[in-house]
Amino acid sequence: MAMKFRSSVSFLALLSLVLVCCSAAVYAGSAFEDENPIRLVSDGFKDFQSSLLRIVGDTRHAISFARFAWRYEKRYETVDETKLRFRIFRENLDLIRSTNRKGLPYTLAVNEFADLTWEEFRTQKLGAAQNCSATTKGNHIISDVDLPDLKDWRVEGIVSPVKNQGHCGSCWTFSTTGALEAAYTQAFGKSISLSEQQLVDCAGSFNNFGCRGGLPSQAFEYIKYNGGLDTEEAYPYTAADGVCKYTSENVGVKVFDSVNITMGAEDELQHAVGAVRPVSIAFEVVKEFRLYSKGVFTSTTCGSTPMDVNHAVLAVGYGVENDVPYWLVKNSWGASWGDSGYFKMEMGKNMCGIATCASYPVVA
Ligand SMILES: *[C@@H]1O[C@H](CO)[C@@H](O)[C@H](O)[C@H]1NC(C)=O
Ligand SMILES: *[C@@H]1O[C@H](CO)[C@@H](O)[C@H](O)[C@H]1NC(C)=O
Repeated sequence: MAMKFRSSVSFLALLSLVLVCCSAAVYAGSAFEDENPIRLVSDGFKDFQSSLLRIVGDTRHAISFARFAWRYEKRYETVDETKLRFRIFRENLDLIRSTNRKGLPYTLAVNEFADLTWEEFRTQKLGAAQNCSATTKGNHIISDVDLPDLKDWRVEGIVSPVKNQGHCGSCWTFSTTGALEAAYTQAFGKSISLSEQQLVDCAGSFNNFGCRGGLPSQAFEYIKYNGGLDTEEAYPYTAADGVCKYTSENVGVKVFDSVNITMGAEDELQHAVGAVRPVSIAFEVVKEFRLYSKGVFTSTTCGSTPMDVNHAVLAVGYGVENDVPYWLVKNSWGASWGDSGYFKMEMGKNMCGIATCASYPVVA
């Protein structure tokens, strides 16, 4: 992949800038030298802002940039890096404004990814495109129940809190645990948090690639044959590839079976989400999507060929907003991303390949 950085800052240095969950605390520590032009100041936003404005100028955009950097605890280590991040931030502001002027059913807004280029974001968050051809023929059986017009499994209390995958293309593990946590609570009436890291470290022989991607359907197969998935507490998340430490002593859930949705069949997917439980899905993330704020996402550029799918998530419902039908989807980019960690995607057009690669587990 072509990385185009018009700066002397190395790619690795740039990667280390990403602030996911707890890395801000690390930067606030001894890593900051006194001669650092933008060293961490203890007396609050005003000082932080003036140190930043000395580097990027005192314009309206610079002030929004300072507010953004303060809010998301961005601490840039050099003057060059600060200038580079400001330039990218301005480009993203342009993308946000031009998109929001189009009168689309969704809006974009500045979020913690607003100082990253699309290429950087892709490298950090998205797995490689996955081959979904195994779901060409699904095994979900459509019964003749009446589907509700609106569905939101959160209302039923079976959807676990939004998690954050950090800087690792492990979305597929979060989609898997999200589906299993909901299935477990639905079956046993208790909440549970399950291990993504076990899947990152151990599910390789089922055609998964840790931080470089994988598929929930293949993760369900791994858990089914492996004997179980540990709890989050027993096998905590590190956001990095590691050696498999599964021992079978702390299994939180077992998978008896998994059900695949026929590729592209949104009616099957709707039946599963409406009548059965939340379903793991995958779709193609495009440039604008990372800055999604609210509304029903739609795109004319994201393809629906199976090979384009690059992000796995969890469909937890569907509905209609301003006459546009949508899927309600739980993401794994933290609860402050998008609409409290969730997004809506247009339904009925296999938008961005949303029904290309869907499956759900049976736990009891
Ligand atoms: C995808 O998987 C199918 C069946 O496993 C295989 O025949 C096909 O060649 C694969 N395609 C790619 C591009 O990997
Ligand atoms: C569902 O898909 C997975 C791989 O994506 C495959 O291994 C499994 O056999 C499929 N299940 C059924 C019942 O077809």
